[in-house]
Amino acid sequence: MTDHGDAASRLTLRGGVQAPRYVFGTGGIFEPGPIHHALKEGYLAFDTAQQYNNEREVGEAIRSYPGQVDRKDLFIISKVASPGSTVEETLQGIRESVEKIGLGGYVDLFLIHNPNFGPEGRKNEWLALEQAKKEGLVRAIGVSNYVVRHLETMKEYASEMPAVNQIELSPFNQDPEVAAYCAKEGIQLQAFASVVRGAKSEDPVLLAVAKEVGKNWNKVLLRWAWQRGFMVTCKSATPSRITDNIEIFDFSLNKEQMTKLDGLECCYRCTPRTVSEEERKVYYVNMP
Ligand SMILES: NC(=O)c1ccc[n+]([C@@H]2O[C@H](COP(=O)([O-])OP(=O)(O)OC[C@H]3O[C@@H](n4cnc5c(N)ncnc54)[C@H](OP(=O)(O)O)[C@@H]3O)[C@@H](O)[C@H]2O)c1
Repeated sequence: MTDHGDAASRLTLRGGVQAPRYVFGTGGIFEPGPIHHALKEGYLAFDTAQQYNNEREVGEAIRSYPGQVDRKDLFIISKVASPGSTVEETLQGIRESVEKIGLGGYVDLFLIHNPNFGPEGRKNEWLALEQAKKEGLVRAIGVSNYVVRHLETMKEYASEMPAVNQIELSPFNQDPEVAAYCAKEGIQLQAFASVVRGAKSEDPVLLAVAKEVGKNWNKVLLRWAWQRGFMVTCKSATPSRITDNIEIFDFSLNKEQMTKLDGLECCYRCTPRTVSEEERKVYYVNMP
């Protein structure tokens, strides 16, 4: 079997920071239980955001974990919800997030959550992130939900390009234009909603591949994202699913199975679109 590592395997982001590739999504989680269970099962990276209103709870849950875990082995991700009226005001929001999370005075990766605040808003947020990095509040900086145009225009003002672009990725939504651009520019893709919130659990092609490998549909989706080289992000508040979702390292999908899954592309997203339909058409020139 091909060795694709395990949940502790790390990749090196632009700038040299090492990040675990397997990420626990915390959207909607306010209680320590699921986070304690995730830590027990070996999840090392945790994805929160100002918008999720749970940065404090996520930090507290990690600090109160009764088991052994070193801060330096963990990888905490958060996101700027919106720009302040000045770069300094946005930076102040980042400082507050770092303080709320309360894990060693820094966050490992801070992202711009979405590109919806126009060119000036995006620039404001990026300059604040660059400053936060200079001040040691964050180790790496990146973006989320960015399409090629957003990334390309960053070159006008960015001292460094993003280490990561976190976007919805599954066999049903592969964002080929963004994926190709990020590969070319050395921007790591972080896939979110990696089990498509269960919306495709009855897809016949997915189920056929699942039957072939003798695993459930969720593991096939997670394994697909892993083998495509993404950081993989999945959320569950259910202990049995938290365990089940990380057990994807004892099998692999062969080339034919990956091709079948790649063939499921249909621009299906389970999260709201963050760019207009018109804009998507520009980027999906070869798609229906
Ligand atoms: N940057 C962004 O704009 C953005 C947007 C969306 C998400 N995210 C990040 O990505 C994370 C994951 O995304 P997501 O929560 O939207 O989607 P997801 O991880 O694909 O799906 C989570 C949902 O699927 C259920 N689920 C999880 N594992 C399952 C399994 N094995 N079998 C059946 N159902 C299962 C969960 O239910 P239970 O919890 O009830 O078990 C939950 O309702 C978020 O928490 C967040 O960190 C980022």
